[in-house]
Amino acid sequence: MKSERPHSPSPPLHDIAINKRRLLRDLNAVSRIGIGDHGSVTRLVFSIKELRSRQFLIHQMQEIGLQVHIDRIGNIFGRLDGTNAKSAALLVGSHLDTVVHGGRFDGTLGVIAALEAVRILKEQKIVLLSPVEVVCFVGEESSRFGYSTLGSSLVAGEVQGKDLAHAADAQGIKLEDILASMGIYRNHLPSMRRDPSTIKAYLELHIEQGPILEAKKKPIGIVTSIAAPTRFRVVFTGQANHSGTTPMEMRRDALVAASELIVAVEKICRKYSHMKKGRVVGTVGAMKIEPGIINAIPGKAELSVDVRSITANAKRRVVRLVQARIREIARRRKIRAEILPLREEYPVLLDKRLIRLLQACCKSRSITYEIMPSGAGHDAMQMAKVTPAAMLFIPSRRGISHSPLEWSEPEDICLGAQLLLDSIIRIGNETT
Ligand code: GLV
Ligand code: MN
Ligand code: MN
Repeated sequence: MKSERPHSPSPPLHDIAINKRRLLRDLNAVSRIGIGDHGSVTRLVFSIKELRSRQFLIHQMQEIGLQVHIDRIGNIFGRLDGTNAKSAALLVGSHLDTVVHGGRFDGTLGVIAALEAVRILKEQKIVLLSPVEVVCFVGEESSRFGYSTLGSSLVAGEVQGKDLAHAADAQGIKLEDILASMGIYRNHLPSMRRDPSTIKAYLELHIEQGPILEAKKKPIGIVTSIAAPTRFRVVFTGQANHSGTTPMEMRRDALVAASELIVAVEKICRKYSHMKKGRVVGTVGAMKIEPGIINAIPGKAELSVDVRSITANAKRRVVRLVQARIREIARRRKIRAEILPLREEYPVLLDKRLIRLLQACCKSRSITYEIMPSGAGHDAMQMAKVTPAAMLFIPSRRGISHSPLEWSEPEDICLGAQLLLDSIIRIGNETT
């Protein structure tokens, strides 16, 4: 058994400040990995760029002197011991993978701010009661495989083998094949869960990715709940044929069917977005057409559908309506429609006690904050199933994210990181 280190009393919270220059420098360094046109960042999960960003993090963790553990899928945990060798660890982090042509802060902020917070603890020789682990989860974004929060879902024991069946990227590479190349098969998934008794709590700092904080002029959001997506692919199969010879009434055009569906998703969701309790959003974000040439009727169209809500019932109702519409379009147009489920998630509530603790952290620095739900998905959504979880938001300029225009002001970034550090100290020193 490890010997217990003496518990040094922490100096007052206000005296422990993050190093703003270093935080911004590291954020900048990560954003250069995968940089593209117009300042966009692309680090799709399991791409070379994404692996390089994970290497950068491992290197930084080693420099600080954290104990680095990497699990089978590639989730990275950098641990700083506490005084109580038996205490479960406070996990703090987010993800480093991005969407295609995304921004520089989504996910990265949460990982790099956690790294900076722990670096300060180490530098100032502040030893908390519990260990703190900086965590980078693999594959939070669904952009490559249509499957989100892969790493945190595995840690939480939430991945079912059957869920992976339709997860494939635009090149047709299956997620299951990538996992197999790493020696991970369906029967291994349950054993990749981390024992929840080793986790004290989970904290995540993230950009809001929406317009509320900016509109309300609040520098901090404290998240109450996370809207969960239901995602599926739809494949319409009609008949590819010559665009010059086929009379209009004899066509079985898969793309026109798909276009009807896109409009239907918008219509159905708009109807629901006016309901106070059951706000639902729905998006068709990707489509593949075959043969995809100017002089042929499209014989095949494959679309992705993403429906989200904080209210499970409202979302279920919208999904049912959308799927009924798919069948109706296919019947009327005499084409085949397949619905391939990707994932169904349930909205989660974050921990009330931790929410109060984050409020107290804001108050002690006289920071105004907004209590708000999250429309975007996060790793906290999975972690909340196994441990008390909480999230802090900072404003996103013009509410834009998943875009190169994603931006948060350095001042807000530093404040968010400071509050993350304050809350790590409080939670890390709590006896449970
Ligand atoms: C994650 O960024 C999401 O799609 O909500
Ligand atoms: Mn994202
Ligand atoms: Mn994110």
